Amino acid sequence: MGYDNIQVATNGRVGIITLHRPKALNALNEALIGELGRALDAFEADRSIGCLVLTGSDRAFAAGADIKEMQALGFPATYTDDFVTSWERLSRCRKPVIAAVAGYALGGGCELAMMCDIILAADNARFGQPEIQLGVMPGAGGSQRLTRAIGKAKAMEMCLTGRTLTAEEADRFGLVSRVVPLSGLMDEAMKVADTIAGLSLPAAMMAKESVNRAFETTLAEGIRFERRLFQALFATADQKEGMDAFVEKRAASFRNG
Ligand code: HXC
Repeated sequence: MGYDNIQVATNGRVGIITLHRPKALNALNEALIGELGRALDAFEADRSIGCLVLTGSDRAFAAGADIKEMQALGFPATYTDDFVTSWERLSRCRKPVIAAVAGYALGGGCELAMMCDIILAADNARFGQPEIQLGVMPGAGGSQRLTRAIGKAKAMEMCLTGRTLTAEEADRFGLVSRVVPLSGLMDEAMKVADTIAGLSLPAAMMAKESVNRAFETTLAEGIRFERRLFQALFATADQKEGMDAFVEKRAASFRNG
């Protein structure tokens, strides 16, 4: 099963997806989004994979949805084809996903990064929602996820003017977890991914699910949800192994069950 617009690789228990339309700064066309969905399906179904990394090139994570492809679209087609909904496959990914972002993460590129669980930014990364300059607005969750990540004032300025953030600003505002030198971005992303992939997969998946629930529900419901997942993990062999290993002063060896 080949891919034309992305590259897919595995390294140990980590699945790596690289957006690859270099001539268009990884502009996100329908073909690429379809391939991304297929790659995610395959990694999710693969029990040997514990964490994913999504990245682009040094110059661009992705410079947005493909403007040349969108240019001729009219409302009936966007509605009947439910344009953009297929992008949500990434936000439905149940395994942890790290976005390793270098260069431009604009429009849909910023939105894809925000669908991931952790954003690691290279020092040359630029984040923005410039859709307003094209006569539209964010359409893949940008107005919602950006606002939750950095607050109304900063999100409004970005969405209403198209102002982009430097990596340092994105770090200070809480959009990314860390900024690292461009040359070390993938090494750092792989280190984080290896760490996660070496832990208990059910525990990591439930932790992800629980953090995400914080954006969907009240505090009381969220805490109830967390409590049930926490209790459920005591049914896993990994809980026994993790706690036995601590008490026996040895490294844990999780079996993901
Ligand atoms: C299609 C794109 C593109 C895009 C860049 N390219 N971004 N093609 N869609 N979003 C293409 C250019 O047309 C050009 O191709 C090549 O990539 C290199 O880009 P340049 O503009 O020559 O590079 P540079 O001068 O370095 O400027 C980089 C840039 C600029 C600042 C990132 O390309 C830019 O502003 N791009 C658009 C960013 C944007 O508006 N994104 C939001 C899109 S709307 P050619 O063939 O001319 O050499 C969106 C909606 C999301 O994302 C909602 C959900 C779907």
